Amino acid sequence: MTYGQITESADYIKSKIKSLPEAAIILGSGLSPLGDRIEDKTVIPYKEIPNFPVSTVKGHAGNLIVGTLQNKTVLCMQGRFHYYEGYTMQEVTFPIRVMQLLNIKKLIVTNAAGGVNPEFSAGDIMIITDHISRMPNPLIGPNDEKLGERFPSMSEVYSKKFIELVKQTAEEKNITLKEGVYVGNTGPSFETSAEYIMFRNLGISAVGMSTVPEVIVAAHGGMRVLGLSVISNVFNENLQQEPSHLEVLQNVSLANKKLIELISAFIEKI
Ligand code: HPA
Repeated sequence: MTYGQITESADYIKSKIKSLPEAAIILGSGLSPLGDRIEDKTVIPYKEIPNFPVSTVKGHAGNLIVGTLQNKTVLCMQGRFHYYEGYTMQEVTFPIRVMQLLNIKKLIVTNAAGGVNPEFSAGDIMIITDHISRMPNPLIGPNDEKLGERFPSMSEVYSKKFIELVKQTAEEKNITLKEGVYVGNTGPSFETSAEYIMFRNLGISAVGMSTVPEVIVAAHGGMRVLGLSVISNVFNENLQQEPSHLEVLQNVSLANKKLIELISAFIEKI
């Protein structure tokens, strides 16, 4: 993906919208209802945007929405691109580059994730305090200095300021939040029991198949990030439970109402 291609996509989006967004929100599996809350909106299907990949997974809508949430102009991705779908890491993270050229400096990423912290329940919302990457790095390859530096720091990819603000917001709204480290695996297979146990023993709280590449690119591009995982299943070796995509979608829907309330109120503060 070249700078020219990113510019072409950003220019197309600019030509369709009334004002430039201040923040972006990426909605994970089953979390697209937040996109429907955006007002005064322009909906741009991914397939209409030059150079944009198209999403293929059930539960992922495939629309870019620009409009207002609590009087702030936001860009919202209803559906994202996953490495397991066969996209390259450059394709997976292409939308982040487009956001960067739209001059968006604040990003909220959401996902559905498996809980490995035994204190978690399905439907919990977890603040991602940090991540561990088990995917290829999306920055591998020639570095375009116009987009960021060769060796970017990853020391605070999840903004401490945003974490404080979202905790404050949750308290005001009486929403309970968990927090912890997220591991990004490639998927598409769920983890084996030995893998879930390994992650739990390492003190990891949640595992998923997205987010990490996007956040690395966002950090490279100088964006401030808030990461939120909705816990869709919790690993327990004593229960004969197998995670499934359907279960993920059903349990994530339990959290949609509070997630919408939380993100709407958070957006007001940033
Ligand atoms: N593992 C990986 N990704 C996931 C899971 C899981 O258990 N649940 C939702 N996304």
